[in-house]
Amino acid sequence: MGMRIRIFDTPHDAGIHVASLAERVILQNQRPVLGLATGSTPIQFYHALINLHKSGLDLADVVTINLDEYASLSPHDAQSYHFYMNKYFFEHVNVAPENIHIPNGIASDLAKECLRYDAIVQRNPIDFQVVGIGMNGHIGFNEPNDLLLSRTHVVALKNETIESNARFFDDISRVPQYAITMGVQSILQAKQIVLMAFGMDKSCIVQETVLGGVRTDVPASVLQLHHDVTVVLDKESASGLMDKRGNLSTQQTS
Ligand code: PGA
Repeated sequence: MGMRIRIFDTPHDAGIHVASLAERVILQNQRPVLGLATGSTPIQFYHALINLHKSGLDLADVVTINLDEYASLSPHDAQSYHFYMNKYFFEHVNVAPENIHIPNGIASDLAKECLRYDAIVQRNPIDFQVVGIGMNGHIGFNEPNDLLLSRTHVVALKNETIESNARFFDDISRVPQYAITMGVQSILQAKQIVLMAFGMDKSCIVQETVLGGVRTDVPASVLQLHHDVTVVLDKESASGLMDKRGNLSTQQTS
């Protein structure tokens, strides 16, 4: 089965849809494992999931595993993904603190931290994985031409990723140059994957990811190999997938 494409009018509507997919997984599993992402893209998803929680959805038995964390940022640093997750999600729901997993970017031995984290990923098979996509096609922090058959590892961020993420920092010099990321192989082990992308800036990379071949320089294209991927877009990010008549194109571009 190819990637399932869902197009919404707004990121808000898309977030509600993804939250409803997550809700189904949460209700169907005794110990649901959610793979979670950061960045601007999933904020509406978290918002919608918080609303479902406020309406009664219990997250007490949910286990969460985040994709990545910057090396060198403490969990208290406002730019860390720990901080992001608390602010946009965990402070508002009842996920048990012991069920929350995020790589420790300030571990004294990052290689050991990758092994520790990967053991958590292997012990808790992910039922529902949310991923955003970088402008260069990265998923998690798996950068173009990084080791694609990888498990959790330390990655040197590409200049374009540092430049793109500088918007969250006071100064580009403060953007960490390294990160810990779950590997593509670990992401592909998830039972179900939802890739989200919004805005015109993402239209080219979405087109390459969905209609291009599987390429090591477009890590997200590897998701074509997975049997259950939903690509959740708005009209702008989906614009490169439309044919002249405004229908979804099935034509491969390469
Ligand atoms: P963004 O980042 O959601 O802030 O666009 C996505 C990503 O880099 O994975």
